[in-house]
Amino acid sequence: MLFKQQAWLRQKLLVLGSLAVGSLLYLVARVGSLDRLQPICPIEGRFGGARGQAEFPLRALQFKRGLLHEFRKGNTSKEQVRLHDLVQQLPKAIIIGVRKGGTRALLEMLNLHPAVVKASQEIHFFDNDENYAKGIEWYRKKMPFSYPQQITIEKSPAYFITEEVPERIYKMNSSIKLLIIVREPTTRAISDYTQVLEGKERKNKTYYKFEKLAIDSNTCEVNTKYKAVRTSIYTKHLERWLKYFPIEQFHIVDGDRLITEPLPELQLVEKFLNLPPRISQYNLYFNATRGFYCLRFNIIFNKCLAGSKGRIHPEVDPSVITKLRKFFHPFNQKFYQITGRTLNWP
Ligand SMILES: *[C@@H]1O[C@H](CO)[C@@H](O)[C@H](O)[C@H]1NC(C)=O
Ligand SMILES: *[C@@H]1O[C@H](CO)[C@@H](O)[C@H](O)[C@H]1NC(C)=O
Ligand SMILES: *[C@@H]1O[C@H](CO)[C@@H](O)[C@H](O)[C@H]1NC(C)=O
Ligand SMILES: *[C@@H]1O[C@H](CO)[C@@H](O)[C@H](O)[C@H]1NC(C)=O
Repeated sequence: MLFKQQAWLRQKLLVLGSLAVGSLLYLVARVGSLDRLQPICPIEGRFGGARGQAEFPLRALQFKRGLLHEFRKGNTSKEQVRLHDLVQQLPKAIIIGVRKGGTRALLEMLNLHPAVVKASQEIHFFDNDENYAKGIEWYRKKMPFSYPQQITIEKSPAYFITEEVPERIYKMNSSIKLLIIVREPTTRAISDYTQVLEGKERKNKTYYKFEKLAIDSNTCEVNTKYKAVRTSIYTKHLERWLKYFPIEQFHIVDGDRLITEPLPELQLVEKFLNLPPRISQYNLYFNATRGFYCLRFNIIFNKCLAGSKGRIHPEVDPSVITKLRKFFHPFNQKFYQITGRTLNWP
């Protein structure tokens, strides 16, 4: 009897023991797999590629990023800023557009990279005369605190279509990197319309139907005066930018693909920005309820983009869609040709 009890006890202890060892092993494996997914970058951890800059301590940055996050939640005191050598840096890259192309999603996703710090707000420095008149120091003070080795990125989609912006950005930094995220032009135009419509509905105002705005009722042709149409003629805007910047300073992001398959698009951006590849599948998980990817920064912190980002578009007369697609077609071809990126739009 006693023997039996002892055996039972021993077995129980064994089970408990193996459970403990099991969880420990699980934790080790878990941390290990995190490491594998977010490797330290001993070789490729060089920022700026061949320009021979100092080693880029990404792992330390990953940790410090948590600190930055804490700072941002509260108020960063002068003491903390000094203690951690925090700085407010002018952006090294700007997402200049396109409105409704997915600029917010792109910014948030790039922010997964430990070497990237995003300016959360659209600053509208270069497109707004009043802001621009306040000077570059005003702009810099709008930037988030970062570690000197990090790069700051801001996005203001109005930059892409505003006449004065290329020259102004050129004056700040003629070798800055410019990101443009685009979607199929007709879809983008309808999405643009939908956002304006929502604003009107909120204010209880009536609004025209998309068809009426997009098609000139006198000529039955596409109405090129309508802003949502004009914004989608990407090549026209890009050509203005090319008077200041060579095409090598631009990178085109496929906004339609960023939604369905974000990782390869982000990896192209990492390469363009000379960042070591650090965004992995671990950082992006599909939320079936939303039908969108959400972002996972680490085991504790994740984030889904705001719900309004998946607006339902109104139904648009198919003949109008056909007409718009035909209209955009030659501009799209030109855009592919200039940028070297073919996007298979209809
Ligand atoms: C941050 O500063 C503001 C204004 O100085 C103050 O009202 C607020 O309580 C501070 N927040 C924290 C978390 O310290
Ligand atoms: C201008 O932008 C380039 C590209 O991001 C960067 O390498 C360079 O340091 C920037 N120059 C200044 C003065 O910020
Ligand atoms: C919106 O307009 C309708 C019709 O004019 C009116 O009955 C309604 O009270 C308005 N609602 C709001 C929130 O203003
Ligand atoms: C998925 O999306 C739903 C609906 O927006 C949200 O309630 C839920 O928290 C999300 N789940 C995860 C794991 O992000």
